[in-house]
Amino acid sequence: MIEKISDTIRYIGVDDREIDLFESQYRVENGVSYNSYLILDESVAVFDSVDGAFCAEWMARLEEALEGREPDYIVVLHMEPDHSACLSCFAEKYPKATIVGNAKTFNMIDQFFAEPITSPRLVVKEGDVLDLGKHKLNFVFAPMVHWPEAMLAYDSYEKRLFSADAFGKFGALDCDEPWEAEARRYYYNIVGKYGANVQALLKKAAGLDIQSILPLHGPILTENIGYYVGKYDQWSKYEAESDGIMIAYASIHGNTAAAAHEMADVLRLRGVEVAVYDLCRDDMPEAVAEAFRLKHLILAASSYDAGLFPPMEHFLMRLKSKNYQSRRVGIIENGTWAPSAGKVMRAMLEGMKGIEICERSVLIKSTCKAENRTQMEDMAEAILN
Ligand code: FEO
Repeated sequence: MIEKISDTIRYIGVDDREIDLFESQYRVENGVSYNSYLILDESVAVFDSVDGAFCAEWMARLEEALEGREPDYIVVLHMEPDHSACLSCFAEKYPKATIVGNAKTFNMIDQFFAEPITSPRLVVKEGDVLDLGKHKLNFVFAPMVHWPEAMLAYDSYEKRLFSADAFGKFGALDCDEPWEAEARRYYYNIVGKYGANVQALLKKAAGLDIQSILPLHGPILTENIGYYVGKYDQWSKYEAESDGIMIAYASIHGNTAAAAHEMADVLRLRGVEVAVYDLCRDDMPEAVAEAFRLKHLILAASSYDAGLFPPMEHFLMRLKSKNYQSRRVGIIENGTWAPSAGKVMRAMLEGMKGIEICERSVLIKSTCKAENRTQMEDMAEAILN
């Protein structure tokens, strides 16, 4: 699809509807887009390529959009292969076009491609400007959003921010779904660990008059830019978006699941928003994003092999790697003969910043009993107050 974004800017990216797992780990039922852009000014610049599976399609689209012209530059905002795999094909067809990147970009180019790419190179630094004619591209470095070489380009002529991975979302462009949920799942799982880096980027972006954001995944954002920037600000500060509570459970035979749902009833009767996730069956990255969205968390897990049932261990490992922090957490453990889940969950939580573990925990011996209901009421009281 070639889309005319303005008189001089074209969208030339692709939708990937065949992908099973993004980064070989994230389910994307609605696919994903690899966005690529073209500026036709006195000089012609291409922004990033696409995933290697779409090289022929992208090259054909580029050639058509060029309308007989030759590219002068290909700007590499992000060297991850979902955006840069076709750089070698591009360089082969357009050997005179200059590759624009920073020092780290070129280190990665030399590492990723077995055959050296001999195109001319322009190494840019933070704040450098690439003059295309009317369009002046100002480079804003964004290390670890989401790799160390990542950078953004602000086009001062049309007030557009080419934002690399930032502000992206899962989902092909032709899918009809709201931005927020899939942008949140994308953010926390892809970039979540690096909130401080996103904050640094937002501080730099605050000085720019941004009329539209052109990310490398997902739709171009053209209206209410403050809403999207506000979401990124909130997410990168690890702030809850709702006062609700997430209950995440890992249950072997269903008894821990029943306890989790009983806990949910206790909270709902108090008027609390509750989201319940089955860590054995629900989408784990969605559960991770939901844990960040909500204010507090209750974990319910079976004991297993004198430790913790692995789906809960996996969940906590992911939360830690994404810098989960500043939440109150309640623990429900189940053990038929030697309960061990609670001890492991506590130890894993203690390695996270600003986590307050609720003293009122719930111990289930095989199945939930009346005394457990009382413990749940106590835990609800402690977590909510
Ligand atoms: Fe879409 Fe970090 O690559």
